[in-house]
Order: sequence, then C-alpha cells, then structure tokens
Amino acid sequence: MSATPSPTERKKVTTRTLRRKKAKGEPITMLTAYDYATAQAVDRAGIDVILVGDSLGMVILGYETTLPVTMEDMLHHCKAVARGARTALLVGDMPFLSYQVSVPEAVRNAGRFLQEAGMDAVKLEGGRERRDAVEAIVSTGIPVMGHLGLTPQSVHQFGGFQAQAKTTASAERLIEDALQLQDAGCFAIVLESIPARLGKWVSERLDIPTIGIGAGPGCDGQVLVTHDLLGLFDRFTPKFVRKYADLHAEMAHAFEAYVADVESGAFPTEEHSVEMSDEAWESLLGRIEREPQARRAG
Ligand code: KIV
Repeated sequence: MSATPSPTERKKVTTRTLRRKKAKGEPITMLTAYDYATAQAVDRAGIDVILVGDSLGMVILGYETTLPVTMEDMLHHCKAVARGARTALLVGDMPFLSYQVSVPEAVRNAGRFLQEAGMDAVKLEGGRERRDAVEAIVSTGIPVMGHLGLTPQSVHQFGGFQAQAKTTASAERLIEDALQLQDAGCFAIVLESIPARLGKWVSERLDIPTIGIGAGPGCDGQVLVTHDLLGLFDRFTPKFVRKYADLHAEMAHAFEAYVADVESGAFPTEEHSVEMSDEAWESLLGRIEREPQARRAG
C-alpha cells in the first residue's frame, strides 16, 4: 500500500512547506517537467516541487547547452506544466539573458512566469553578482530559488559541464554566495555538482533549504532532470544520476513493433476500427452505383 496521499488529499506545497520540512529534517523532493502529461504524473507521485528547468533546451529541444533557450520557450512549457500539476510548488527557470542584463528586465521577466505562465516562483543562476536582481524580484512578491555550483548557463566559462567548488578558494566563494543569496531573500538554493561534504556543510549553516543535484545526501532535498531519471535522454548521463527506467530503449522497442505491425498488416484490426450499419452501407452503394454519371458531372 502506498503512503503517498492522493492528489485530492494533498495540500498545495508552498515555500513555507519547504521551510517546515527543513526544520523537521524531512527531505524535500523536486523533479523537472516540461509538459502536461509529465507534470500530471510527477504531481500525482507526491513531489514537493516541479521545476520547469531550462534543461528543456537540451532534453526537449536538442540543443548542446541551455544557452539558446528563450523566455518564450520557457513560458510555453511552463503553461503546459501548470495545466497538469495540482499541488506541487511550480518553479520556472529564468533563461540566459532574461535576468543578467538589468534589474528592471529581471523583475519584468520574473513576473511573466507568474502572471502569464502559472508558476509560483522562479529560479535563477549565480551568487553575489545576482544579489540586486534577487532582492528586486523578491521585493515584488515573487519567490526566488537560487542556483550555485555547476550553473549550466556559465558552461563556457567553466570549460564544460564539470564539478565545481573543489578547491578551498572556490568552496569558500560558494559558501559566501549561498549566504548572500539567503540574505537577498531566496527561499531555497539548488546546489549542483559540488563536493558532498561542502553540500552538507552549507545545508547545515543555511536557514533556507538546499536542493542538491550531485551535491551529496547532506542537502535538504534532491532534484534530478526527469529525462535522466527515466532514461529518456541518451546523449550522456551525469555521474550523479540514478536511472529509474530505460524509456529510451522502451520507446525504440514500441516504435519498431508498430512499424512491423503496420508493414505486416497486423495493425489495425477490427478491434481498432469503426463500422457503419449494413443497411447504411447498402443504401450508399445503391445510390452511388445508380447515379455514377450525375456524380461525375456534379
Ligand atoms: O534546468 C534544470 O533542469 C536545472 C536543474 C538541473 C536544477 O536547473
């Protein structure tokens, strides 16, 4: 028997729920979703947070990085997710250049996620250099989730998708950035691909929850990209992913079986067809066979 309450019994998750979970030492769960059906399934599984990540650029749109993703791409997918989810806290990921150019632009774009796309909060990448933007967005009443460590929008600065904060100096910088984001008003921070002991240390020092992805079990919550978890994205699998299914292979089998069935005539059968009554059919044949000339002329 499942312990997960049904979606009708579950209350809407808010930023306060996450803070309470951290205080009680209860792990926070977060997954990405980019479409209606996946949002529905993830929500029904009892997830706390659904992130409409800009990772959609890679796993849905097939780009090499998240950099080409636009505000319009994000809003389009956020709207679909908002239609599918009922209780999870919905976080929209601010894409590259939507919050870095100026603080007013950051506030306006953050607002669009709530006003147009049904999100409850936004996420953005970076530490002290984003403090002003975070403060301004939060002061508008929009909850902000931070993101430190391997921040994919800086992939070219890092020289690839590599683990971060492994040296004393860079780990110290990450700690200071996490404190600054907390002071600026973030309600939670994603820690991506950093040493596990650093993830635990930061989580224990912060009042706000940390959500780890490749940051060890000491974080207050965990997030994965759903396409990695499902084995749907086969270009590469980061070390920190656990695959709970191999849907890419399942899909390939299903598609091959469909092609074989259509080619052999095994699909469709009577079971998949609709029919009209014999009477209607005979009447039709009678009419079209009786008046072929008139039909051609008409
Ligand atoms: O875009 C995304 O999916 C993310 C997660 C990896 C946290 O930022």
